[in-house]
Amino acid sequence: MIKKYSFILFVAAILLVSFASIKKVSAQTTSSLKETFKNDFLIGTAMNTPQIEEKDVATDGLIKQQFNAVTPENIMKAEIIERKWNTFNFDLADKLVAFAEKNNIKVNGHTLIWHSQLPAFMRNMQSADSVKQYFENHITIVASSYDGKVYSWDVVNEALNEDGTLRKSIFLDKLGDDYVVAAFRLAQKAAPHTKLYYNDYNIEQPKKRGGAIALIKKIQAAGVRIDGVGIQGHRRAYNLPLHDIEESIKEFSALGIEVAFTELDLSVLPSPFENTTADINAAAKGNANMNPYKNGLPDSVAQMQAKAYSDLFKLLLKYKKNVSRVTFWGVNDAQSWLNNFPIQGRTDYPLLFDRNLKPKPAFYSVIATREK
Ligand code: G3I
Repeated sequence: MIKKYSFILFVAAILLVSFASIKKVSAQTTSSLKETFKNDFLIGTAMNTPQIEEKDVATDGLIKQQFNAVTPENIMKAEIIERKWNTFNFDLADKLVAFAEKNNIKVNGHTLIWHSQLPAFMRNMQSADSVKQYFENHITIVASSYDGKVYSWDVVNEALNEDGTLRKSIFLDKLGDDYVVAAFRLAQKAAPHTKLYYNDYNIEQPKKRGGAIALIKKIQAAGVRIDGVGIQGHRRAYNLPLHDIEESIKEFSALGIEVAFTELDLSVLPSPFENTTADINAAAKGNANMNPYKNGLPDSVAQMQAKAYSDLFKLLLKYKKNVSRVTFWGVNDAQSWLNNFPIQGRTDYPLLFDRNLKPKPAFYSVIATREK
């Protein structure tokens, strides 16, 4: 009997020792993005609802291991946070802030003013007074509720057209050209302890960049605080505009503000459009040719993407004094909005982790930019 128990104890001890050494090996071999770039810039990801509710344990584990910044993919948008006039639902945003605080992660609030995902009650508001009331109340209540708890806010999102002019929206129509300045003025008052950013896609492109620079200068000339600009970074891996990105970092930094890459993903799929866009209304119809990798990503494509990410990170490291944060738009390929944009139901691979949360060649190529 004693012999039997000793054997069981012996086997248990062996199992324990081997388990501990397996854990040690995997901890040694898994590099972490946040550790690798800790002296350079914050490394972020977008979080979806199951992740924020801590229902997706595996992904949450990876987030804690790899990232030190998070942006809610949807739950701080007006449609969700103020679904009914002056009735605010902060449940999910509070959960996000608690998760971040517990794990030493910074939160970027996304977003206070955006023409898209607006609550139904204000989408077709006719009276300018009502829009003004909504605008002032929404910014003040949301921004002040998270002052200091949120590290930065995308105060205004996607206010520009591709040619650099102001996009037609309910805010432009009812409040006029100065609404962006007004939004920053309200945010500055409501959130004195939070950084204030302007966020947009394609603003590395010369014309739109010119519009963003004019907008930022206008905010500064009005004596209003703007701390940074967010280049979203929804691009294609096979034609990354590195020169434009470099020029943008230089020109935005010359305005005395931080530059962040706020929604980075590099699609590997063919696009129905000549120019990239993140305008959710730009839907297109697909066919089999437009979804070539539905059964898996060929190694040659994974390597091409790894090279693109590596080129980009080399550039970001060159400007690490100016770049404050690099946030990926999602943790792994399964989470990406690009599986449904601009064509529904495709299989894209734009991020650093695959559908099983395993690091891809792009992950290792990004890590290698710092290790060399
Ligand atoms: O909330 C409903 C849910 O109730 C319903 O069951 C589900 C069924 O489809 O739809 C849910 O809403 C979707 C929402 O994501 C949450 O999953 C919307 O249909 C869908 O349109 C929405 O897409 C988001 C998109 O913004 C909306 O504009 C994407 O997840 C999000 O990644 C994307 O993020 C934007 C940034 O905020 C700004 N920059 C561009 C970027 C990509 O479009």
